[in-house]
Amino acid sequence: MDNLIIGANGQLGTELRKLLDEKRIDYTATDSKELDITDKVAVETLFDKNTPKYVYHCAAFTAVDDAEEEPGKGLNQKVNVQGTKNVAEAAEKIGATLIYISTDYVFDGNNTGMYTENDQPNPKNEYGKAKWEGEQIVSSTMSKYYVIRTSWVYGEFGKNFVFTMLNLAKTHDKLTVVNDQIGRPTWTRTLAEFMLYATEKDLEYGLYQLSNEDECSWYEFAKEILKDKKVKVLPVTSKEYPQKAYRPKHSVMDLSKTKSTGFKIVDWKEALSKFLENVD
Ligand SMILES: NC(=O)c1ccc[n+]([C@@H]2O[C@H](COP(=O)([O-])OP(=O)(O)OC[C@H]3O[C@@H](n4cnc5c(N)ncnc54)[C@H](OP(=O)(O)O)[C@@H]3O)[C@@H](O)[C@H]2O)c1
Repeated sequence: MDNLIIGANGQLGTELRKLLDEKRIDYTATDSKELDITDKVAVETLFDKNTPKYVYHCAAFTAVDDAEEEPGKGLNQKVNVQGTKNVAEAAEKIGATLIYISTDYVFDGNNTGMYTENDQPNPKNEYGKAKWEGEQIVSSTMSKYYVIRTSWVYGEFGKNFVFTMLNLAKTHDKLTVVNDQIGRPTWTRTLAEFMLYATEKDLEYGLYQLSNEDECSWYEFAKEILKDKKVKVLPVTSKEYPQKAYRPKHSVMDLSKTKSTGFKIVDWKEALSKFLENVD
């Protein structure tokens, strides 16, 4: 068996399954009930039995604010650090290639330019710290791996900012959205395509950053999502909209390395418009 997707029922895992189905590529997929990555023996047993060539690691604890306090804090550690360690060790043991997804929250967001793969992470929230630890576990454990850092992920399958805005617009005349956090939205389709591209093209192993092109604030993102709706979108500052977990002010990731592989990245407005065609 060539392809194993773990955490396969999340928004990215489901998108990746859809992409492989479309391309008629065989895979095995496990959700958190079929394979709990915090269970080291279960991970090892499944990997030893299936001996996948590629392990697409889409499992994560992604509740960023919950990760700041117990019980979320412990779960964040358990899944994102210990779980990833279990996956990396079991994958290395059978000689698999691991595809691990990380986040722009590994950066503090205090710069004004773009972060490259060579910049030193300095995560400020618990989730970002755990994902950065996960990156280091993967790069120190694995011989064959792709760490793909992404940001502001949305897609057809799961909870995300785009669905939240569309739902709120049904019941509100006016929405306020933060305008002082800048980043790059990522459609799960673009991300799933790059994960497959990396393995199919046998790209050089290592760290890659991937989002859609161009940057925006959450306010600008919301305006674009709701441009055909009647609701009014108003900008606010992060101070006016406090959140439990620290959010980077400017976490725009440089995409040159990923683009230099020949992978074509559409800009975020075009990606969003394609996404909305199917869900709106
Ligand atoms: N969402 C974003 O904005 C964002 C941004 C940057 C990076 N990322 C990264 O992108 C990747 C995919 O995220 P996503 O948006 O697809 O997240 P998601 O929708 O929350 O999916 C995560 C999946 O992981 C599963 N999972 C949780 N604990 C598990 C465990 N112990 N064992 C096995 N599976 C477990 C969850 O299953 P249950 O639902 O059954 O618990 C869920 O299906 C993650 O690595 C995430 O850190 C996401």
